[in-house]
Amino acid sequence: MDPHATPEVRVLGAADAAVPLLLDELRGAIARGQRPLVSFATGSTYTAFFRALDAELQEGRIANADFLGTHLDEFIAFEPSRRGGMVHELTLRCPALRDMLARGSFLPVPCYGSEGSLRAHEERIERAGGVKLQYLGLGRNGHIAFNEPGASFDEGFHVTMLAESTRADAKSRFVPDEPPRRAVTAGLRSILGAERIVLCAFGKAKADAVHDMLKGEIHANCPASALRRHPNVLVLLDPEAASSLDADAIAGANC
Ligand code: GLP
Repeated sequence: MDPHATPEVRVLGAADAAVPLLLDELRGAIARGQRPLVSFATGSTYTAFFRALDAELQEGRIANADFLGTHLDEFIAFEPSRRGGMVHELTLRCPALRDMLARGSFLPVPCYGSEGSLRAHEERIERAGGVKLQYLGLGRNGHIAFNEPGASFDEGFHVTMLAESTRADAKSRFVPDEPPRRAVTAGLRSILGAERIVLCAFGKAKADAVHDMLKGEIHANCPASALRRHPNVLVLLDPEAASSLDADAIAGANC
């Protein structure tokens, strides 16, 4: 990995402008290789993208036979059909992914997190040729997937405790129940193993995390800062998420 890699940062006029770029990333991955494995992120950041992706898939402009899908993380014991879970969210927003799940071309993160299931999941990813395109969101505490502050840069898939801010942000998914305390997540080593990474962050609440990710120390305090060790990262921001950055931090800006 390149210790001096600098992500390409693009500041878009508005969050919705990311959607065609994110679809182009998927088309590009499909064009570059045979049936690439694409790993999706969850969260409100990607709602518009999944709606658009579903239309592309349903109308055949992107063929779901042309790629394999997977995702980053899952709340512990949330099987794919359980409300509040990540796969449930993905398949609700993009029903075409449910078809892929049924056909075995979408690989769900093992939700119970046993060591054996996690190593088997990593082996499946490896057999599929590794993740060619990784979509990422950003937690307001600097997390990526569920790698909370303090996470090791050198871990694969593992079970983790959720930060209180993460649980608070996830609360509405589980009402009237309390949000889970544990989740299964791709580790930072897993994420950095992807060939290309595209991270989206939108809104003022992400501005400090964006600053720390791009301009702070590369340190476990901000897990997203690990992305600066990867040579092929694109960061898409809206103006609010970019509001703590100086202009010189925005290489290749596209306002
Ligand atoms: C969760 C997920 C992350 C995601 C983050 C941001 O914590 N584990 O992968 O990036 O939420 O979510 P949102 O897009 O809703 O801000």
